[in-house]
Amino acid sequence: MNIYRVSQPFVFTIFGASGDLAKLKIFPALFALAEQKRFLKDFWIIGYARTKKSQEAFREEFSTAVKASYARAWGDYQTEILDELLTHVFYFSGQYDNPEDFEAYRDFCQAQTKCEQITQIAHFSVPPSLFEIIVKNIAHIRKNEKDDIRLVLEKPFGDDEASAQKMFHTVTSYFSEDQVYLLDHYLGKKAVRSLILLRNMNRILNLMLKGREVDNIQISALETLGVGHRSGYFDGVGTVKDMIQSHLLQLLGLVTMSIPIEKTAQSVQKEKAGILSSLHFVPKKENIVLGQYKGYQNESPKTKGSQTPTFGALKLWINRESWYGVPIYLRTGKKLHQKSTYIVIELKKFAFQKPEQEPNRVIIELSPSEKLHIRLLDEDGITSRLGEIGVSESIACQGDYCLPEHGLLLLDVLRKEKMFFLSFQEILACWNVIDEVTDFIKKEKLKPTLYAPDTCGPSAQEKLIAPKKSWYAFGDQTCS
Ligand SMILES: NC(=O)c1ccc[n+]([C@@H]2O[C@H](COP(=O)([O-])OP(=O)(O)OC[C@H]3O[C@@H](n4cnc5c(N)ncnc54)[C@H](OP(=O)(O)O)[C@@H]3O)[C@@H](O)[C@H]2O)c1
Repeated sequence: MNIYRVSQPFVFTIFGASGDLAKLKIFPALFALAEQKRFLKDFWIIGYARTKKSQEAFREEFSTAVKASYARAWGDYQTEILDELLTHVFYFSGQYDNPEDFEAYRDFCQAQTKCEQITQIAHFSVPPSLFEIIVKNIAHIRKNEKDDIRLVLEKPFGDDEASAQKMFHTVTSYFSEDQVYLLDHYLGKKAVRSLILLRNMNRILNLMLKGREVDNIQISALETLGVGHRSGYFDGVGTVKDMIQSHLLQLLGLVTMSIPIEKTAQSVQKEKAGILSSLHFVPKKENIVLGQYKGYQNESPKTKGSQTPTFGALKLWINRESWYGVPIYLRTGKKLHQKSTYIVIELKKFAFQKPEQEPNRVIIELSPSEKLHIRLLDEDGITSRLGEIGVSESIACQGDYCLPEHGLLLLDVLRKEKMFFLSFQEILACWNVIDEVTDFIKKEKLKPTLYAPDTCGPSAQEKLIAPKKSWYAFGDQTCS
């Protein structure tokens, strides 16, 4: 069992500590790490934001956010852990663009830690427009370039390839890429991480994931919830950039990349970047479907008359000899009939098989359950029966894998493990293909078609994959 405890003293600063991400994900993740006794005694958690508030008020907010995330199960022993953790929690109020505020924050850190040389983790819980100025100000207050400073930036990284490149350029003019942890929280999901582990361990699985064996790949991320209070952020972005650009393309990269010989973060990132940079979108209307659920435009004043898609489906290709002619279908949407995320790899059929026979499938279910299924045909007289072999349940809740997504990823930052973070190259490769898609949407002035909530989404998604194939419907629920 893998139990890593953080032995070096560190300061963990959350920039934008008054925001949603901090409350919903970061505070609970830090508590989960404390609950698992991952921290020794020398650590400081500092919330940095513009809002003025006392240490007590911030600790109260921290505490409320943690308890809210454990709504159903909260015991006395957890109160004790939380009380102890709160003695390590501090608040500093400052502007993000004022170097003097950063100097005062540096003095504040030193007064707490009484330590000159200490590992500093800076978590960016702020809108991406603030990333560059904060990076610049952190560089302004460091003693020298050898300081152990690690920057944790959450997706989205820019809005297109050019803006991502500009952001990386700014970041790398102050820090090395080594010090930057580009976080997509999908890579904190146990089932997603297990993809690499399963592929590393099972040659049989990799043989089925070779391009020459595969007929098509389908990745579906279906949500039942609407955009709700996130419309301020979401409406400016839309589902293609919010979900497909990073989450779905990461899943695609993980199933299609070659298994690197060396099991290092660098070699995994390199392989993934290689395959992602081979992705290609053919700019034709039949290769894209956009939808918007009915009622979205009434959710907030910002969404009135909005043409932002809440559903997106794409057909892509991988421009590599080994994946020649294998279509990739991606789809994701909100307010659908079912909440589930799964990858279906349909294998080629033998020439003698009847068209109506089901193909063999490798199905990687990421949510709500985390399972790998391999579906084989079992000849039973005249009728073919679909058999199922449960090859492996993905990693059970043990050790590190009991942590929430952000807990696992923050622990990775503390142990300098970058296997489940993105490289600049991967992100630019993903933007490159998404830019092809968004340019086409703009050029053709494509508008999303409306779909009723609690259904499968726009019916045009079937045309994207028909006539020879259809979306594999996973789970028991059918569309209304
Ligand atoms: N929320 C999520 O679940 C989620 C999930 C994945 C990724 N992300 C990403 O994580 C980052 C943070 O998300 P969030 O939802 O926590 O953001 P947020 O609530 O909009 O902003 C966080 C904090 O940043 C400060 N801030 C916001 N807008 C500002 C502005 N225009 N100028 C200066 N300060 C501003 C505010 O703090 P003060 O005014 O007190 O300084 C605010 O409390 C974003 O990049 C987001 O895309 C969020």
